[in-house]
Amino acid sequence: MSDQKMVNPKEVPSVTFNNGQTIPIVGLGTWQSPPDGSLYKAVSGAIDAGYRHIDCAYAYGNEEEVGKAINDAISAGKIKREDLFVVSKLWLTFFRRDRVKLCVNKILTKLNISYLDLCLVHWPMSFGESDTDNLPVGPDGKVVPGDIDYLEAWQGLEDCVNDGLVKSIGISNFNTKQIERLLGAAKIKPVTNQVESHPYLAQVQLKKFCEERGITLTAYSPLGNPGSQVNTGSDKDRLLKDSVVNRLAEKYNKSAAQILLKFQAQRGVIVIPKSVSIERIRSNIELFDFELAAEEITELEALNRNYRTCGFDEVGVPNLPNYPFKDPNEV
Ligand SMILES: NC(=O)c1ccc[n+]([C@@H]2O[C@H](COP(=O)([O-])OP(=O)(O)OC[C@H]3O[C@@H](n4cnc5c(N)ncnc54)[C@H](OP(=O)(O)O)[C@@H]3O)[C@@H](O)[C@H]2O)c1
Repeated sequence: MSDQKMVNPKEVPSVTFNNGQTIPIVGLGTWQSPPDGSLYKAVSGAIDAGYRHIDCAYAYGNEEEVGKAINDAISAGKIKREDLFVVSKLWLTFFRRDRVKLCVNKILTKLNISYLDLCLVHWPMSFGESDTDNLPVGPDGKVVPGDIDYLEAWQGLEDCVNDGLVKSIGISNFNTKQIERLLGAAKIKPVTNQVESHPYLAQVQLKKFCEERGITLTAYSPLGNPGSQVNTGSDKDRLLKDSVVNRLAEKYNKSAAQILLKFQAQRGVIVIPKSVSIERIRSNIELFDFELAAEEITELEALNRNYRTCGFDEVGVPNLPNYPFKDPNEV
């Protein structure tokens, strides 16, 4: 592994969206980062290490701590608000058009900022309306379904762009049929589709599909989320132990995690590794002093086995009409 140093934010490549806005290709993930001071340290440490992109979500329940770290860095003169790319996500209990702005305003209040650089529809399904319960469950133990279509949620996000609350809008966990349907109705085109991706879920077809339509791909769980509280299988760190990944790590004197992250960035895929360890946060952005060979990218893509760590398969969610992964071969 290379010695740790701060990465100059200018060395981190940007991806340009279909509306001209640019986003640093590496961002800090924040799902399951505990708001007990660790997330504050993670975001502050990430800014010091050269990150200028933070991936948040209403549903993560920890945006206040992200906001405090951002605002303290601004007050300390380390960054200006416009230097930072802040992403958040509309939750599924706020899909009604007039409730979308309510959710976005709640996010802005928690983050204590005046606009989001990007807001995504977190998933294409809707849940029963609630301002307090992110996963409303009925007496049958199943999620309470919502009856609002994601096309209506999209109109709500378009309103937020027109009102200056959000600069760009995008989607997350949408399959190709859902993207096609959205494109048929949208006034503002989505800039990215944020989906799980790593060599075991390489998303080659979805990437091509999106790119052909001017939509970038963002890879979540790029390390396979080895510490997940949702996927508790005994093999959850198997991507980090994969023999091909480790052979490349040895060849380039990098860590297995750095190979997994470089795999995405070199394919032009935006990547958002989560960590609350300062050492890992620093190393996860040290990706721009080496290049994988084209055949090594192909070799990593060939490890695909449609392995999903984040299927949201609790309390009957997969039975909802717009659940995107009903068919395991669905792209
Ligand atoms: N749109 C969606 O539906 C969706 C779903 C899932 C995730 N996301 C976003 O994507 C982000 C990343 O995905 P993720 O959190 O699921 O998984 P991930 O980034 O693949 O993995 C995070 C896990 O890996 C560990 N880790 C981080 N760097 C490491 C390294 N260099 N070596 C070894 N282990 C390392 C972390 O532990 P430590 O913290 O202890 O370092 C944590 O347990 C999320 O945080 C969230 O922002 C979005």
